[in-house]
Amino acid sequence: MTVSLEQLRRCHVAVDLGAARTRVYVKGTGLVVDEPSVAAVNTRTGALIAVGTFAERMTGRTPDYIRVVRPVSGGTVVDIEMAQRMLRHLLGEKLRRTLRRKPRLRAAACTPHDADPLAQRATVETLVGLGARRVELVDTLIAAAVGCGLPVEQPTATMIMVCGAAATQVAVLSLGSIVTAQRIPVGGEAIDHAVVQHLRHAHELMLPSQAVRPLQIALHGNGITAEGPASTLIHGRDVATGLARSVHVDTAAVRDAIHTPLTAVLDGIGKVLRDCPPDLVADLTDRGIMMVGGSALLPGLDQKLRDATGMPVAIAERPDVCVVMGLGAMLEGKIAPMVLNPLSG
Ligand SMILES: Nc1ncnc2c1ncn2[C@@H]1O[C@H](COP(=O)(O)OP(=O)(O)OP(=O)(O)O)[C@@H](O)[C@H]1O
Ligand SMILES: [Mg+2]
Repeated sequence: MTVSLEQLRRCHVAVDLGAARTRVYVKGTGLVVDEPSVAAVNTRTGALIAVGTFAERMTGRTPDYIRVVRPVSGGTVVDIEMAQRMLRHLLGEKLRRTLRRKPRLRAAACTPHDADPLAQRATVETLVGLGARRVELVDTLIAAAVGCGLPVEQPTATMIMVCGAAATQVAVLSLGSIVTAQRIPVGGEAIDHAVVQHLRHAHELMLPSQAVRPLQIALHGNGITAEGPASTLIHGRDVATGLARSVHVDTAAVRDAIHTPLTAVLDGIGKVLRDCPPDLVADLTDRGIMMVGGSALLPGLDQKLRDATGMPVAIAERPDVCVVMGLGAMLEGKIAPMVLNPLSG
């Protein structure tokens, strides 16, 4: 962590700009924004038509002149101006006024582990454009570990896995810092993509983009474990004729399709454990892995990790908002750092 807790305590607002969702925590108030990172724009006038949930619902259903955009992609702000406009609308007039009243607005934001300087700069510029005089960046992995109450400051190993939309990040932490970490570019989006591709190849069926999640849930009465129903009815469009069609999809085959991207995640966990000093790995056999992030809710993912690693696996209480709540806890000064001053005498 390059930024000190002291500096974070002076921040007024914490922002997590995710590929799927944007979350904002205001000091003294709590979580104020938790909406999809989506904006709908009128391409004729350039005007913003909708943001957040309503804009996401428009995806794939718009006439020519409306474009639905995602200003954050792969964990990086790719369109700074659009990200600013989206955030401005998500915050709303009342909150913006409250924040404007701060003479020197300070903001904290999390960036993915290993984010390159350009990506960090894009995050900083987005918030500076919204009036922040100073922006502190925190590694997502540390914010997540704090957010789910892991004893990060202690000299004991804790393992955190942040399952986001664009990437999965895994780290072993000890004494408030990252010991080893990996960022695997496979997240919820890759899993959705695997389901869509499978239906296209195996059933020549095009699935509406927004039907993927209900499909996952319907498919796995009991998660990506084998106890769910054997098949389920899916509505989509025939690839060749373009007509609406319904097919019975074999759930086992979809589970297999989902497992393919997950192998990359399991490889990443293996790599983190191999790079980790033996004492810390020994701690981990008791403490296990803590899962956070929206994709941690993918039914059965925790069981799969348990099977693959043989370690205990737990899902955080509110996995999707852990990261921003961790930033919030640091802003509120709820985290007491362990003082590691040199011994005198
Ligand atoms: N109940 C659920 N079952 C399965 N997947 C889910 C569920 N809820 C959310 N997800 C998935 O979680 C992902 C969103 O997670 P999250 O909100 O942590 O992403 P993010 O922080 O925006 O992304 P990133 O951190 O990668 O930039 C989406 O891909 C979504 O499909
Ligand atoms: Mg995230």
